[in-house]
Amino acid sequence: MGSVAEGCTFETERLLVADWRNRPVAGWPSSDLIDAVVLMLTPAVTSTLPGGWQGDYSEDRAKRWIEERDDESTVLEVVEKASGQTVGLMLIGDGGSENGGTDIRLGYMLCESAWGRGLASEMVSGFVEWARQRSEIASITGGVEPDNIASARVLEKCGFRTVGLPEPEGEQLYRLELR
Ligand SMILES: CC(C)(COP(=O)(O)OP(=O)(O)OC[C@H]1O[C@@H](n2cnc3c(N)ncnc32)[C@H](O)[C@@H]1OP(=O)(O)O)[C@@H](O)C(=O)NCCC(=O)NCCS
Repeated sequence: MGSVAEGCTFETERLLVADWRNRPVAGWPSSDLIDAVVLMLTPAVTSTLPGGWQGDYSEDRAKRWIEERDDESTVLEVVEKASGQTVGLMLIGDGGSENGGTDIRLGYMLCESAWGRGLASEMVSGFVEWARQRSEIASITGGVEPDNIASARVLEKCGFRTVGLPEPEGEQLYRLELR
């Protein structure tokens, strides 16, 4: 599916980020996406993500997961400069119209081995800076499950604020208005 983030690419101090359909030639891991997804989608990572994403990943399941993501979003691959490894993914969906512009629906994950070093905050704030340069983007929205303290903290640190009340047992929406 096309979106305003199609072809998106940017870098931060420690990270290179690009649409996984347009991987840059230089500085990018030679590993294929299927291997990166198998390594990323461990039980600890998927436990706070949609229920249908949980469980073990064979190469076939990872391939299907990639195809499903492509059908509903633009996916940004996040590579750590120092190691040259794929450490994260950002899922960029269309959240509809907001304030005369597009609301982006943002999801993200990091490999377990990359947790706790501020990389999630760095990749989300890098995306926010990228989005600020796009006048068609009015806001960015993320949904967080009640016990996902790390994710809520990442969004708060990047300037997002809660919208409405959490669904009972469900997610709390966080939004950053860009205009
Ligand atoms: C959510 C996720 C991306 C966060 O990655 P991370 O590497 O921990 O993120 P960061 O290091 O950038 O920031 C996490 C912040 O939460 C804080 N934090 C983490 N766990 C915490 C806890 N149990 N209690 C309080 N604060 C906590 C950290 O201290 C840090 O805040 P600080 O910089 O102010 O100290 C990662 O845990 C992940 O991939 N989880 C699985 C997928 C997921 O949940 N995605 C989000 C769906 S909404």
